[in-house]
Amino acid sequence: MIIAIDGPAASGKGTLAKRLAAHYGLRHLDTGLLYRAVGWAVLTAGRPLDDRACAVGAAASIDPQNFDEEALKSQKAGEAASIVSAYPEVRAALVDFQKSFAATPPGAVLDGRDIGTVICPDADVKIFVTASPEERARRRFLEFRSKGLSVDEAEILEDIRRRDARDTARAVAPLKPADDARVLDTTTLDIAAALAAALEIVEEGRMARREGGEWRVANSE
Ligand code: C5P
Repeated sequence: MIIAIDGPAASGKGTLAKRLAAHYGLRHLDTGLLYRAVGWAVLTAGRPLDDRACAVGAAASIDPQNFDEEALKSQKAGEAASIVSAYPEVRAALVDFQKSFAATPPGAVLDGRDIGTVICPDADVKIFVTASPEERARRRFLEFRSKGLSVDEAEILEDIRRRDARDTARAVAPLKPADDARVLDTTTLDIAAALAAALEIVEEGRMARREGGEWRVANSE
């Protein structure tokens, strides 16, 4: 089974993807880390983020086994990722890895921005996880603070809005729900409630597939 989870930054998609993978015994890939690693590689090479050749070179040679997740989870790496991920050659260099990860038995949960639309258009279940920008900024703020980092919530909100705008407006693989994705708004849900809602969506999707029925619902709520 392949489950595609897409959504904007801090929508809760990563936590849901991890828990769904554990629940169904599937492998999990946080595809944001791939783009973060590319942005981070450009920064640590001392190059500007508009150095496309450097970004493409980094994308062609990234090694997920050696990711420094702590550094990649930083705000700086996220911002860098959203710049380099708009380069079509960077995206193209990362496609095969993602597709073959998804195709490896027993299946996988992938989370990102274009999983349901580009990487796994035939996924068994597609969920588009979202939440209001203010709630997402609040979550990120609490996450950074719990790690002892001094951060400003208003600044995080600004960063989130900037990244949403960039991810949505880009020409290649923009952030948007696939036509056959279910939208799950987690603004008022805690993790347990969001997971319960996601499990319900997966089970409904599986049942619909088993019955051979067409499964096209634009919105859940
Ligand atoms: O999900 P995360 O916040 O880690 O992603 C960082 C950035 O990487 C996003 O803002 C987006 O620009 C990019 N990204 C992407 N496609 C994906 C995953 C992430 O363009 N599948």
